[in-house]
Amino acid sequence: MTARILDGNALGRELRSRMRGRVEVLAARGVTPGLAVILVGENPASKVYVRNKGRACEELGMHAPLINLTGSTSEADLLAEIAKLNDDPAIHGILVQLPLPAHIASKKVLEAIAPHKDADGFHPINVGLLASGTPRFAPCTPAGVMEMLAAENINPRGKHAVIVGASNIVGKPMAMLLLQKGATITICNSKTPDLGAMTRQADILVVAVGRPKMVTGDMVKPGAVVIDVGINRLVEGPNAGKLAGDVDFDTAKDVASLITPVPGGVGPMTITMLLENTLRAAELTAGLNAV
Ligand code: GUN
Repeated sequence: MTARILDGNALGRELRSRMRGRVEVLAARGVTPGLAVILVGENPASKVYVRNKGRACEELGMHAPLINLTGSTSEADLLAEIAKLNDDPAIHGILVQLPLPAHIASKKVLEAIAPHKDADGFHPINVGLLASGTPRFAPCTPAGVMEMLAAENINPRGKHAVIVGASNIVGKPMAMLLLQKGATITICNSKTPDLGAMTRQADILVVAVGRPKMVTGDMVKPGAVVIDVGINRLVEGPNAGKLAGDVDFDTAKDVASLITPVPGGVGPMTITMLLENTLRAAELTAGLNAV
């Protein structure tokens, strides 16, 4: 069997084009959705991500000021910047790109973002809303994965979803979203013994660990749906410099029924859902019934 490839670029484009009408409704009311993107320091991968996020916002008619602070910015100065954006009526969403430099407490920073402007869905209030089954802003990467499944008419109800990686950004919210759709969930982490025995049970396998090609074809159940959240820059071997996912695509594609590529799979969906959350924040502020 060779898996069908889930094209996140195409689906992302389609979903973003469907958002245009909503941007126009807001424009007619004099509202331009605004997402403030804060980057602290010069992490090369983060710079690429924030540039892509800003570009996607502008393509859709949103404004997305980038606030690039130096790597030596103090926690207090970053918190002051967030406080300003919380009070700025032109800003509907605030995103602080992670990871932050080690001298800044991420938890404190994420808690400083006004919950109704939390485009990433990382504030404890939004985490709680998601966990209790009434999400306001679901974290963008797992929300994007749910859109990919829905676009393929994959109903998680009754399926066994195995998630490799228990991060706050992907693994945990992914589990919540799939659980709410009726899946049986297993979350694995770096201490899980015999990972393959777990992943081979998965009807839906989501891998988000940040280790290139860690999940190989022999760890995939025949016919499974494989969602690869990893984006790793290879540093050695014949493909040095190229991007690779957490899944070994070449071996997994012969076992799975559907698989996401890297790049061009989950990545573009993450950005799309960030636009969705920002748009929803602007609609809620404008008193429109968000979809
Ligand atoms: N770093 C890696 N993924 C993300 C994300 O989804 N949001 C933010 N803010 N930082 C990230």
